[in-house]
Amino acid sequence: IHNVIFDDSKEGSLQVAREISDLIRDRASKGLQCVLGLATGSSPIKVYEELVRMHREEGLSFKNVVTFNLDEYHPMEKANIQSYHYFMHQHLFDHVDIPAENVHIPDGTIPSYAVQEYCRAYEREIEKAGGLDFQLLGIGRTGHIGFNEPGSHFNSATRDITLDHITRVDAAGSFKGLENVPRKAITMGIGTIRKAKRIVLMAWGQNKSEIVKETVEGEISSEVPATYLQEHPNTTFVLDKEAAQNLT
Ligand code: F6R
Repeated sequence: IHNVIFDDSKEGSLQVAREISDLIRDRASKGLQCVLGLATGSSPIKVYEELVRMHREEGLSFKNVVTFNLDEYHPMEKANIQSYHYFMHQHLFDHVDIPAENVHIPDGTIPSYAVQEYCRAYEREIEKAGGLDFQLLGIGRTGHIGFNEPGSHFNSATRDITLDHITRVDAAGSFKGLENVPRKAITMGIGTIRKAKRIVLMAWGQNKSEIVKETVEGEISSEVPATYLQEHPNTTFVLDKEAAQNLT
């Protein structure tokens, strides 16, 4: 893992958006699609803001972009304002020229009996697209990436999981109470994420400083799933000063 530390999240986000737009343009110039793995939550919001600005002001086109989101609560209606489906459209997809058929977000309305087959199909779709060129990540205080909570296997694939208590507590604010936070989610696996050619994980604020230290400097362990990134050959952590403050 290579760490890059910025004065604030705005600076870091501009840098990440620049890397993504360079990749999109480079692939387009070769007549190729650009396959992006995307995250939700507070960490990537400024990256999406900047990509939308580049689309509006600098002619950045998403016509050749194919996206796969990491996760979605389950069960969850697409129109629910808490859904990751809603989040992605609100922050990115409604404002750029990405073809609707290129967007993939795990479907929180799939009935439980059909989830396994649905997850296998999601993996096949990623492979059919040629694999993830770039995966954007945030990190949860449990050390989750996607919703791969402690205990996740390093070879895990897209599947349904039970959310950790800490993760649900962290989401309680936006759901107006812990009791409203779903208990389950569908997430890409650690194995799915590890296959990405390039990974950028962003963490902002003091709240993330402990888990960032454990992830970067700790022993590789399923207890902190993000530590599996230590073995990935092309991963960068983009941090602000507060998130990096415990690193030695
Ligand atoms: C979101 C996701 C999660 C978040 C993590 C951090 O799609 O997969 O792993 O990245 O929970 O969330 P924020 O950015 O809200 O602190």
